[in-house]
Amino acid sequence: PRSIYLSRHGESQFNLEGKIGGDAPLSERGMIYAQRLPDIISSQIQPGEKLTVWTSTLRRTIQTAEGLPYRKLQWKALDELDAGVCDGLTYEEIEDKYPEDFAARDEDKYNYRYRGGESYRDVVVRLEPVMMELERQENVFIVCHQAILRCIYGYFLNIPQEELPFVDMPLHTVIKLTPKAYRCVEERISANI
Ligand code: F6P
Repeated sequence: PRSIYLSRHGESQFNLEGKIGGDAPLSERGMIYAQRLPDIISSQIQPGEKLTVWTSTLRRTIQTAEGLPYRKLQWKALDELDAGVCDGLTYEEIEDKYPEDFAARDEDKYNYRYRGGESYRDVVVRLEPVMMELERQENVFIVCHQAILRCIYGYFLNIPQEELPFVDMPLHTVIKLTPKAYRCVEERISANI
């Protein structure tokens, strides 16, 4: 049976600085993850079995997937949730500059739309074509971003939409989902970095 593999990009410079969004490169730890990823994936894929790697168009995902010896495809629809005017800020700076927005997001994280940006609800809608294509594919490894992976993961595990923004998505971990008749079997492979 086919599996879907999910991973966040390796730790980025912005992750280190607590800044959201942006297009920062990987940190040193993030690069170590990128280097270990080919071994982690090849231990899952049998020789001769096919795999396609999907990334976003952002540097940190492309760098993370760089060493993987499989066909790759970049999707704009896999780019991280657009934080609009808050892009590049820390949560502290957002609370300082836009206290009302910060409170509104806390109140309803699923529906809150950043000024000039997106909500989780918007992300679920823009992922529709990705999910359609995913249904048609064999093994796919998706390397993208925290908010996006919460939505994709939640789709397969039938998580209620309002809970999606709170799903735990650790760094440096591959989540393997194998759809069975009525549920998805899940495995987590940590790179221990
Ligand atoms: O901090 C990493 C990040 O991917 C940001 O780019 C993004 O805005 C955020 O996580 C999404 O998580 P949350 O919805 O919990 O703020």
